[in-house]
Formats: sequence, structure tokens, C-alpha cells
Amino acid sequence: MSIDDKLNNPAFFATDEYHGLFDKMRTEDPVHWTQSPDGRGYWSIFRHADLKRILNDPETFSSEREGVMPALDAEMSEIAKEAMGVGENVLTIDPPRHGDVRKVLASPFLPKALADGEQRTKELISGIFDQLPAHGEIDLVADLAVRIPMAVICDILQLPEDHWEEMLGWGKMAIGGSGPEYQQGSAAQTVSTGYKLLFDYSLERHNERKGCPFSDPLSMMSNATVGGKPMTPSEVAHNGVQLMLAGFETTRNAFSGGVLALLQNPRQMELLCEDPKRLRLAAEEFVRWSDPVISLMRVATQDWVLSGKTVRAGDRLILWFPSANRDEEVFDRPYEFDVMRHPNLHIGLGAGPHFCLGGPLAKIEIRLAMEELLERYDGIEITVPVERVQSSFVGGLKHLPVKLVARATDQARAC
Ligand code: HEM
Repeated sequence: MSIDDKLNNPAFFATDEYHGLFDKMRTEDPVHWTQSPDGRGYWSIFRHADLKRILNDPETFSSEREGVMPALDAEMSEIAKEAMGVGENVLTIDPPRHGDVRKVLASPFLPKALADGEQRTKELISGIFDQLPAHGEIDLVADLAVRIPMAVICDILQLPEDHWEEMLGWGKMAIGGSGPEYQQGSAAQTVSTGYKLLFDYSLERHNERKGCPFSDPLSMMSNATVGGKPMTPSEVAHNGVQLMLAGFETTRNAFSGGVLALLQNPRQMELLCEDPKRLRLAAEEFVRWSDPVISLMRVATQDWVLSGKTVRAGDRLILWFPSANRDEEVFDRPYEFDVMRHPNLHIGLGAGPHFCLGGPLAKIEIRLAMEELLERYDGIEITVPVERVQSSFVGGLKHLPVKLVARATDQARAC
């Protein structure tokens, strides 16, 4: 398979091979013109410095022209723009309007709100652990990693637990549309259907809450103005979908990827068991290591030279995050999983004005969930080989079957 065929193929990111390709590209062709199935082509960007430069300059590299979902065939390009609500969803709005919309969504994710809510988050996570068997086999992804961020974001958005299963299915279609088991029609149709179902759901909740004095983000958006005008129902619904998907589709991958890395590196597990306060720092390494976001797109608004190549106005750029987060120019021993890594200059949560709004919340969830896991279990064993999802957008483990052994004494822990 050629380099470009690999980059265009979501199934390639379910293999272990993608880091090897990225290493080669960072050295040999860090800004690489890539042929794509739609015939338009795009620039593949591999170096940390170039990703940071692009993420910090939304005037030159727009999120709004064509959205941020890497859409590499004509059908997906057409569908992704509409499905994601490009120009309405905060992720796909350029400044200056972007800052106004972000402010409306921000309040539950600010440091004071997160600190006030930490006890509640801990209770939600503890409640999910309570439902697990004390001993025996579970799928750490489906039974734990998926349910934790789902519970937390649904609590913030005030969405009932009996809606979770359906929402998860729609999320899988929207994000993991490329995996055969989630597919309904073509990959693009699957993505479109997933987003549409989430959009309709979000719109219904908006209609129920309009005019009500609630303080969850959906109600606040329903009553908010941006640039002197009320947010339209479509804007509210698209931003609701953004919070749901960002809330439950990424954190699960950083958590399950972090657990897998600890199981494969027992000394790192020991370091956390010796002093669980180290989990604050370790949460950064879980995000760097686990590649929860594989790629995002930008479109150049003017000609620009990047690592010696001239990008033309209108060209698409695909930013490969796992490559930036293993860049040897930035990270010592980039292929060592090191829970004590400091400084850890990963850009797994983005950079610049679109820096992840929920990043601090995600790190709290990961830290609290790891604390519970280490506290409750005396042993965790992987039972069968793990599998990654087939996606070049949001990546992570599909399943992580493990055998749990509950701790026998007050002293014993998972290490
Ligand atoms: C480990 C978990 C997470 C990862 C790896 C992650 C990653 C990212 C990245 C890379 C971006 C930047 C997008 C861009 O530049 O185009 C982003 C933006 C965003 N994330 Fe997260 N995210 C995570 C968790 C969350 C959570 C829990 C929420 C909460 C609901 C959230 C909400 C958002 C929102 C709203 C944006 C858009 C911000 C803006 O455009 O101003 N994320 N995220």
C-alpha cells in the first residue's frame, strides 16, 4: 500500500503501524502533499512545531471553511460539513465570532465550577465502579471507559441515564462510521445519520428547555445571545451535539489507552500505586500516549510557507496529532510511556483558541477513575489481544477485555 493509501485508509489506524509511518514522514517529508480519493489532495502535517503554528493561527488556517473532520472523499466532504453544522458548532467557527460562542458554553468547564463539582464527579465515577463485578471478566471499554465520561457529561447537560445507550450508538456512528460494524450504508451516510440522530435529540431537549431558568449548557444556550442576536435552534442543537460527542467519545479513549499502557508497563503502575498524587501529572501522559484524536483538518485562507513547502489559499491541511506527540524534537524518549514526564508539551488537547474546552474536566475524570481502579483491584490482566477502532479522526480501543481481582486487604492495590 502506498503512503497516501495508508493515510487515506481509516483501517490503517486500527493497526500498530501508523507510528512507524509518522516517524518516517517527520524526517523525510514533514509537509507532504497527499493524493486523496476525491482528487483534490491535501497537505499532511507531521511535526509538532507545524501543528502548533497552524492551531495558533485561525486567521490563516480556518476551521470554518470546510470544518475540521478529515473528509477525504467527495461524499464525506459534502456530508461532513452539513452533519457537523460547520459555521454553527463552536469547533467550526473562526474568530471573532468563535470567542463569543465559546463564552456561552464555557461556564461548567471553568476551574471554579470544576473544583466545586469534583465531589459530584467522584460520586458518579464511584457509582459506575459499584456496578462492576468484584472479580471476573469485563470489557474495560464498554463497562467502564465509555460509561464514565457519559455519566459526567450527561450530568452536566442534565440528560437521563435511560437515553445513554441510544446516544452511544449514535456517537459510534458519527465518529466511528468507518468501522464496518457501525455502518448503515456508506461510511459517509453512517456519519451523517449518527450526527442527524444526535442533532434531533439535542434539538428536542432545546425545545423543552427554552425559556426555563436552568443552568445547564443546553438551557443557557437556549436563552443566550451572540453578537446581539439569540442563538438559533440549529446553533444550540449543533453545540449540544458537540458537547455530547466531545464529552463521551474522547475521554474514554484516553482512559482505556492509559490503563492498557499501565498494564504493559508495570513499573509505571507501581509509581502511581506508591503515590496516587502522581496521577495529576500522569493524566497528561495518558492523553499524549493514547492518541484519542488522530487528525483534524484546517483550510488555508492565504498562501503560506510551512517547512519549506508553499501551501496555497484554499488547500486543505490534515494535522496528524499522534505524530506531533511523538516528535523527538520536543519529547525525550518519545516512545517511553512515562507517568512522571515533565514537562509534557503534548498537544493532544489541541492548542490556540480552539484548545479543548473540556480538557481540564477530562483530566479530572481520568485521575478520579484511575484512583478508583488502583484502589479497588488487586490485579488486572488483559485476557485477549486488544483492538483499536478504525478511524483517522477520533481513535482508541474498541474493546479491552480484562480479568479483575478485587483487593483482598485494605493495603493491597492493583500493583
Ligand atoms: C481526553 C479527552 C479529550 C481530548 C483528547 C480532546 C481533544 C480536543 C482537541 C484536540 C480539540 C481541539 C479541536 C481543534 O483545534 O479543532 C478539542 C476541542 C474541544 N473539546 Fe475536547 N477533548 C477531550 C475531552 C473533552 C471533553 C470531556 C469535553 C467536554 C464536553 C470536550 C469539549 C471540547 C469542545 C467544546 C471543543 C471545542 C473548543 C473550541 O472550538 O473552542 N473535550 N478537544
